[in-house]
Amino acid sequence: MKAVILEGVNQPLTIKEVSIPEVKENQALIKLKASAFNHRDWWIQKGLYAGLKFPVILGSDGAGVVVEVSNPKHNHWINKEVIINPSLEWGDNERVQSARYRILGMPEDGTFAEYVVVPIQNIVEKPKYLSFEEAAALPLAGLTAYRALFTRGMATAYDNVLITGVGGGVALFAFQMAVAIGAKVWVTSGKQEKIQKAISMGAQNGVNYKETDWAKNLKKLSYGGFDLIIDSAAGESFKELVEIAKPGGRIVFYGGTNGNIPELLPAKIFWKQLDIKGSTMGSDKEFHQLIDFFTKHKIKPVISEIYSLNNAEKAIRTMDEPNQFGKIVMKNEIS
Ligand SMILES: NC(=O)c1ccc[n+]([C@@H]2O[C@H](COP(=O)([O-])OP(=O)(O)OC[C@H]3O[C@@H](n4cnc5c(N)ncnc54)[C@H](OP(=O)(O)O)[C@@H]3O)[C@@H](O)[C@H]2O)c1
Repeated sequence: MKAVILEGVNQPLTIKEVSIPEVKENQALIKLKASAFNHRDWWIQKGLYAGLKFPVILGSDGAGVVVEVSNPKHNHWINKEVIINPSLEWGDNERVQSARYRILGMPEDGTFAEYVVVPIQNIVEKPKYLSFEEAAALPLAGLTAYRALFTRGMATAYDNVLITGVGGGVALFAFQMAVAIGAKVWVTSGKQEKIQKAISMGAQNGVNYKETDWAKNLKKLSYGGFDLIIDSAAGESFKELVEIAKPGGRIVFYGGTNGNIPELLPAKIFWKQLDIKGSTMGSDKEFHQLIDFFTKHKIKPVISEIYSLNNAEKAIRTMDEPNQFGKIVMKNEIS
């Protein structure tokens, strides 16, 4: 089969001929129709991710058709259109992942290939209203957004919610889901046109995080601040989030794109009774809840651009600058 291989740090993604992976106990072989990029793939290529292993086939997100299963008892999956849950061995504790937890696409080979093997428990039938490209856009970012917004953030229709960096893959899913439950949602972005797009999709308003006084302006626009803030930038601007959270509010963050969080004043946090929570990926149960939620609300993942597997390196380079609004997707079938 053709697969996109990463040979080492800062090496280009190159397409090569490799063997179709062998199906082991309780696994399924998926013929992939589409896959999608996450910031994780970019961090791995830059060498900025834990547990690097090369050569590797990257890719956590994928959708396709089941072509082989390990055991006849799983035969009902054959020819089913499926979406892949990239959370491997989350374990039984909903509160936190197990010590064996991994994300598909390193160390195990991922979805930037014509075929991938995954545990049977990690496949779910693709919702019919989604194309393969839309379905492939959803898994990792959607799951991260679902847990951050609902499980950790406890979002309700009565909340004023802030989603920072709405152009990001996870952020945009969190935004769409918060709008879907009827919460009032504000956004930040580094680009005015992304704020306008978010407003056209149901945001109350937004500000550019590159402007001075962005936090003050946002507090005014939201008539007093936020019950729930979902963030992945961290860094210097995090202290502003503490300022604009309402008393009793929650701040959930799942990334550190802008680095360490400096200078948080303890009194600002304890006097306002704030909950500041970390969140990562999600469990099998949350993955099923995510798919049910999207199906119930008929939410369509936003796709920024679609590439062919041959152009994987060109596709990942688009993530050097945050120009995208939505997911970067690849069609995996080689004609
Ligand atoms: N813990 C987990 O399980 C998990 C899962 C997925 C991702 N992550 C992490 O979360 C981060 C985002 O991932 P992603 O896949 O959604 O990335 P992405 O699609 O590449 O988006 C990154 C976004 O970050 C936003 N951003 C940049 N600087 C910002 C700032 N100063 N303030 C607010 N937003 C800013 C930009 O938003 P605009 O374009 O609107 O300016 C950009 O589009 C990455 O660090 C990633 O590693 C963690």
